[in-house]
This record gives sequence, structure tokens and C-alpha cells, in this order.
Amino acid sequence: MSDSNGVPFTDGKFYEKNFDSKEYLKSFDVYPSSYEGFLPFMLRHLHNTFSSGNLEGKRLIDIGSGPTIYAIISASRCFEEIVLSDIADGNRREIEKWLKNEKGCFNWRPIIQFVCELEGRSRSPEEVERRLRKIVKQVLRCDVLLENPFHPLKVEPVDCVLSSLCLEAACKDQGTYRRVLRSIAALLNPGGVLVLLGVLDQSYYREGKQTFSTLALSQSAIEEMLTDQGFTVKQVETLPATEKQKKSCDGNAFFYLFAQKK
Ligand SMILES: C[S@@+](CC[C@H](N)C(=O)[O-])C[C@H]1O[C@@H](n2cnc3c(N)ncnc32)[C@H](O)[C@@H]1O
Repeated sequence: MSDSNGVPFTDGKFYEKNFDSKEYLKSFDVYPSSYEGFLPFMLRHLHNTFSSGNLEGKRLIDIGSGPTIYAIISASRCFEEIVLSDIADGNRREIEKWLKNEKGCFNWRPIIQFVCELEGRSRSPEEVERRLRKIVKQVLRCDVLLENPFHPLKVEPVDCVLSSLCLEAACKDQGTYRRVLRSIAALLNPGGVLVLLGVLDQSYYREGKQTFSTLALSQSAIEEMLTDQGFTVKQVETLPATEKQKKSCDGNAFFYLFAQKK
């Protein structure tokens, strides 16, 4: 373990042991239009991206999904198959529970409802849930730090990779972040798109009793690394962190980024 800004680096093993899926999900137990913040900001941008009509494809992979599905609700209109993934068993189990509609699974309905409203109610929440449960074909173990994050499985290149709040959590330095972007580029078909959601200039966040390290990166550093790895950055939007959020992290802003592999 190495220190970044005094916070010991929390690696994948630490996440497997200490990341509390239920505690994490508490922050998604909201109706997104009732406040302005991370969730409505990201859901609106995801909606705009995936309703543009320019993005359709066979498969999408979400890397480091945690116990969540919010990031793929809008994308479920455009893709035939979605693969979710995470390093921690507990997170993957939580998603599986929702996919099987098991008793005690997390209730994503208010968030799905919000997305349906963004879509002008062209799909009902029930339809969206049915579709998600049909097209999420796998919830795979992944370690984004491996050259093949799905080792020993070989995953065919896809049309879209999505990742939210994972890369800065998984990487301890910029060299690693660069390598991870290279492995992600290898998962994409030429012309494929990367939708990256994250946080800027953050070295830690707290979740319940745990503190997790994150790699503090500026927007320009992220854009430069993406360009170096053969992406064209098409859109970046940022949202300043609120004082309330700053009580549990030291990040300055959240970002929504859309890039295309050349
Ligand atoms: C802050 S959570 C984000 C979860 C979700 N994507 C979201 O937007 O809410 C960070 C996630 O990254 C995962 N993670 C950390 N290190 C990883 C690694 N090396 N490979 C894959 N996932 C990792 C954690 O298990 C955790 O689920």
C-alpha cells in the first residue's frame, strides 16, 4: 500500500472486503428531481447521449458497476446486450438480486421513473425494468487493473464502454490510469464510444465508516491521457461538488465525459 495525500491506497482486495453495498446504495434511495446534484446531473447527460439517435450497437460493458444499475437505464434503449461488472462479489450479488427481482433487492423504480420522464414517457418504468432484466446478460468479475480486465474470460470488443466513479478509485497513480485506459480502448471496436463519469481532484471519499482512496486528477490530465490512448474527446461537462458532499470527500467537481475511439 502506498499513501496518496495521507490516505492509504485502497486496492481491489480492500474493496472486496470493506465496500458495503447496502450502505453505498443508501445514497441512491432518492427521487432524483427532488435535488440538484450528482445523480440528476449524470442521468440527464446519459439521457442526452443515448437519446441522440447516433449511438446504437450490439453490446455495452459497464466497468466497476458497484451494486448499481442507474448508469445503464438510458443506454438500455440503444443496445441489445449489456454486461455489468465489478471486482467485489457483494456488489455483483446485489445486482443479481435486482435482476432476479429477489426479495429485499434495491428499489431502482424512482430513478427509472425519473429517466422515463426525461424520455417523455415513451417507455414505462415496468417496460424499462423488463428490458434491463432481459438484456443484462452477465454480471462479470472484473479487475480493471489487469490487461484483460475479465481474465480468464475473453470478451469480444464492444461498441460502448461505460464506467462511473471506478477508474479513479482503482488506480493509485497516473501511470496505472493510463494503462487502464489502454485496456479499455482494447475492449472497444474502432469508432466505439467511452462514456466516463467521475470526480476531479479527489484523493479520498468516505462511505459509512470506511475511507477509500482515489487518484486526484484534473480535467486536463484526463483529457490528455485519453487523447494519448487514441480517443477523441467529444464532450465534457462538470458539476461542482456541494459543501454537503465535501463533508465526505475532498473532490472539487464531478465530470461527465464522452469520447470516441479513433
Ligand atoms: C465508487 S464505486 C462506483 C460504483 C458505481 N459505478 C457507481 O457509479 O455508483 C467504485 C467501484 O469500483 C470498484 N472497483 C475498485 N477497484 C476495482 C478494480 N480494480 N477493478 C474493478 N472494479 C473496481 C469497487 O468495487 C466499486 O464498486
